[in-house]
Amino acid sequence: MHCNAPFADSNTQTTQPDTAMTAATTAKSFCAAPLLERDYWNQRYQTKAFIWTQTANQFLMAEAASLTPGRALDLAAGEGRNAVWLAEQGWSVDAIDFSDVAIDKGRQLADARQVSGQVRFEVADLRTHTPEEQAYALVVVMYLQLPLAELAPILARAVRAVAPGGTFLLVGHDSENLARGVGGPRHPDMLYTAAQVTALIGDALDIRQACQVERLVRSDDGDKVALDCLVRGQRV
Ligand SMILES: C[S@@+](CC[C@H](N)C(=O)[O-])C[C@H]1O[C@@H](n2cnc3c(N)ncnc32)[C@H](O)[C@@H]1O
Repeated sequence: MHCNAPFADSNTQTTQPDTAMTAATTAKSFCAAPLLERDYWNQRYQTKAFIWTQTANQFLMAEAASLTPGRALDLAAGEGRNAVWLAEQGWSVDAIDFSDVAIDKGRQLADARQVSGQVRFEVADLRTHTPEEQAYALVVVMYLQLPLAELAPILARAVRAVAPGGTFLLVGHDSENLARGVGGPRHPDMLYTAAQVTALIGDALDIRQACQVERLVRSDDGDKVALDCLVRGQRV
């Protein structure tokens, strides 16, 4: 079967959305399967340049601003932009991703930003990785796009890692982004909504926010909007 690229780059404000993959594009011709594979991600990250921006996600920055730094866990950390930013804010961060290429780039970013002592990078597959329970004041999951059946056990473990009083923050590409937004996976199975994530988490946390949020994406042919879902919860 012929597969087109499963992911259009725009979960950041600096990468270019692939306009050929926006609203008018049907999802039918896109394969979701590669997104589940470490090799696919390693290949994508095998560029000198960072494939995402080095700037932390805007929703993370806004949410973390009111928190007291402690231990943080960044699941699917990619090239480390969010982990490094958290470290700069005083957090002690464990950053996990199954792409060793991305993790190497994360280490370089932490070095360059002089916070390598505050970020522990680890190569691990979240489908089998179990983080320490109730250990983290902040657990973040940013743009981990997996089918719900695969996401569910990962989120269950992520939620268990939140310490009493701690915060869980998930931001992902929203299901509606396929029709009305730019970037992100071009396959409905890899997208989800805040309501679906909240249902997966169940009663484990007190959900403080669960909604769709708009993210501005700058590109050469003008500003565009990406639709993300955001879920923020707290262990009371
Ligand atoms: C769209 S990137 C997001 C990276 C980062 N969170 C950010 O916002 O810049 C998705 C990341 O999920 C990682 N990933 C996908 N499936 C994974 C798995 N099963 N275990 C660990 N990491 C995974 C990929 O390697 C990739 O770095």
